[in-house]
Amino acid sequence: LSSIEVDISKIQPGQGIKTSWRKQPVFIKQLTPAEIQAANAVDVASLRDPQSLADRTKPGKSQWLITLGVCTHLGCVPLGIGEGETKGDFGGYFCPCHGSHYDTAARVRKGPAPLNLHVPDYEFTSDTVVRIG
Ligand code: FES
Repeated sequence: LSSIEVDISKIQPGQGIKTSWRKQPVFIKQLTPAEIQAANAVDVASLRDPQSLADRTKPGKSQWLITLGVCTHLGCVPLGIGEGETKGDFGGYFCPCHGSHYDTAARVRKGPAPLNLHVPDYEFTSDTVVRIG
């Protein structure tokens, strides 16, 4: 199967789930207003991989952050989705393998990772279902 449909109706703001697509982990997170604000407060030009939150989300749905759960350094699965997992120094994800920190838009901010967590192709098929792939 090249695409999957995921029910996101149970994901509350500040929470996320891990699913998988093409044998790769995928993180689906609903950002809180504070996390959105933090992402939008960053000067995009200062980033290693310059992308705004709007570049990484769908219009009108900037609270839904959907990325691969694959560190862009050497492919470990970053922490930050599970209950109690560290979100790193920038409040998003933390890769424990070599210490890459990602912000609330899953953009790399510190450590060896060269790129932001990859955003796969996806679309909302309704308010509560997203199709990835
Ligand atoms: Fe994530 Fe190296 S694989 S920091």
